[in-house]
Amino acid sequence: MKRQVIITLLCVVVFKVVAQGQNFFPKEDLMSIGVYYYPEHWSPNQWERDIKNIAGHGFEFIHMAEFAWAQLEPSEGKYDFTWLDKVIKLAEANGLKVILGTPTPCPPVWLGIKHPDIYVKDVLYQRKEHGTRANMSLSNPKVLDYTQKIVEAMAKHYARNKTIMGWQIDNEPEAKEDYSEASQAAFRQWLMAKYATVDALNKAWGTAFWSQLYSSFDEVNIHNATNVGWWGANPIALLDFKRYTADTQAAFLDFQAEELRKYIDKSQFITTNYVAKGNGADPRRSTQMDFASFTAYPNYGSANLGDLGFRLGDYSVLMYANDYYKSVDGVTGVMEIQPGQVNWANHNSLLQPGTVRMWLWHCFAGGSSFACSYRYRQVLYGAEQYHHGIVSTDGVSLSQGGQEYVQVMKEIKLLKEAYSSKAKMPKAIQKRKAAIMWSFDNLWNLERQKQTYQWDSWMHMQRYQSILHALGAPVDFISEEDDFNDYPFIIVPAYEMVDEDLVQKWKSYVAQGGNLIISTRTGAKDKNAHLWESNLSGIMNELIGGKVTSFDMLPAGKSGEVVMDSQTYQWSSWGDRISASTNSEILASYSDQFYKGDACVISKSIGKGKVWYIGIESLYGQLEKDVLKRAFDDNKVSVENYPEGVFVMYRDGFMVAVNYSSEAYELDYDGNYLLGEKTLKPAAVSVWKSK
Ligand code: GAL
Repeated sequence: MKRQVIITLLCVVVFKVVAQGQNFFPKEDLMSIGVYYYPEHWSPNQWERDIKNIAGHGFEFIHMAEFAWAQLEPSEGKYDFTWLDKVIKLAEANGLKVILGTPTPCPPVWLGIKHPDIYVKDVLYQRKEHGTRANMSLSNPKVLDYTQKIVEAMAKHYARNKTIMGWQIDNEPEAKEDYSEASQAAFRQWLMAKYATVDALNKAWGTAFWSQLYSSFDEVNIHNATNVGWWGANPIALLDFKRYTADTQAAFLDFQAEELRKYIDKSQFITTNYVAKGNGADPRRSTQMDFASFTAYPNYGSANLGDLGFRLGDYSVLMYANDYYKSVDGVTGVMEIQPGQVNWANHNSLLQPGTVRMWLWHCFAGGSSFACSYRYRQVLYGAEQYHHGIVSTDGVSLSQGGQEYVQVMKEIKLLKEAYSSKAKMPKAIQKRKAAIMWSFDNLWNLERQKQTYQWDSWMHMQRYQSILHALGAPVDFISEEDDFNDYPFIIVPAYEMVDEDLVQKWKSYVAQGGNLIISTRTGAKDKNAHLWESNLSGIMNELIGGKVTSFDMLPAGKSGEVVMDSQTYQWSSWGDRISASTNSEILASYSDQFYKGDACVISKSIGKGKVWYIGIESLYGQLEKDVLKRAFDDNKVSVENYPEGVFVMYRDGFMVAVNYSSEAYELDYDGNYLLGEKTLKPAAVSVWKSK
């Protein structure tokens, strides 16, 4: 009964957040498209022309001011909004809305001269200085003081301006490790709040090891892996530093949001633009954003496929960002997405024509309520000289990417005509609904102790995410606090740190009919990142129906074999040896090495549901895919079999297909296409109405 009340309350809270976020973006608008504009980079007599052209091309909003602190507060306490007011008026006259950035990434020179200690100190205790961005120490009280003043001045000035649709706080909050004096003091405070007594800290950090004991919090300095040597550093002290850094970053965002909210109209949203696959700033640590948005530069990364891959982009960037950021508050948008070549990658190749359009449609399919291009004009000077814009260096002609934006804006109009608020997700897709459980704390900890050069926590998780997409499942990311019961399938990839409460929550989810698919390394440690005083899977033994007794890994170029259903799979990076209990089923076992015959994949029924433990990372992911397929099959849920890089997703009554692979793909649909066709070429997009 009590539980029911709590769940109902939780649902109300979750619904409120989603509904609130959605209020800023009516569903029938599908995806509004905007662009970054930096008036401070251009002659004022070009502003009118530029704004007119932006509106003429079909953009709906512009984004300004995030790096313009020096122009907004040229000297201490003297604010100048005249230039920005002019551009906002021009935007209004041309029917454009505006997103304003708070300019805190770039403190003006006068601030640094007056207070040189506002800057971050890096791992070598070297103080950063004026001339770049993201260089302030966020735990420094002076930084907070000056931040409060500029944010308050902007908020007061634009509070009732109807052209302002929302605010982006700071820019790409990537939690910076800060070893400054202010940060050292703040870290000690953070530790005191967390541990209360120095004994508790000593225990948690395991300071008995190598004489690291503290007798007071005052003695604690941030553990610096560079100074003590990476191999010798205390992993738990480093994990706490990561946690503190992310908390500090989140508190800085919330601090600004609270300041804005004192003044601004309710119609103006507050968000920030997280780096798509960033791992420093944790959106779930902030409580004051209306929703989390993200920035995406998919040009090059870990998942570029085939010959054309370097021009088509890394599909994992938007795959992850779409699913992850939407899950934070139910609404998301891509705040920055590249319109073409960038200037900072290892190599900055031209994109395959159609690629920018494909990315935008991938954002749409993934649920973005808006998409904003970084940037309108290609800047003629500064650190981003060779970075493409929507228009090229002449300031007026559309670049290749610019043309593709214009095309997408026209296409969205077409879709709006076909939109129906009554459309529902097809049942076959709904039944596949899956969630991935994922936390930054686990990621940081795993990355600190990989054990083998082959271990890559991102890759491990994304392999499962890719498989789910290949099977045509809609994917959300959940945290321990979320309601698990919304999802028939939950995947828990390498979730290393657990406690009794979580294990209990998993058990009751399964008992009520859930399918819990847990991968290797999950549950190997407690929340303080200590191993269990038992076997490796410690408090997980009963849940998974077996004991992980040891794990193995193979050297470069060597692979081992496992067999499942008479099929052989190769592995190399990680394999658990499991002693299965009598009430569980062994699905896969090793077929070579001295432990031939030991189990590595098991499953167990609990109540109405089932737990699957995949204690191995196979070479190409086929084993993991076959286990997942089996879990869907067992539940009589039909699945698809899309090749890697082909995404076919449902959104608001439409099916959207995009192709990042270098091969054409024949879609299995015979009806009428709103866009595109049955043959999905590389970089192509097809859209049709769902049945
Ligand atoms: C982003 C950043 C932008 C711009 C862009 C260039 O990471 O947020 O301000 O620098 O990169 O590609």
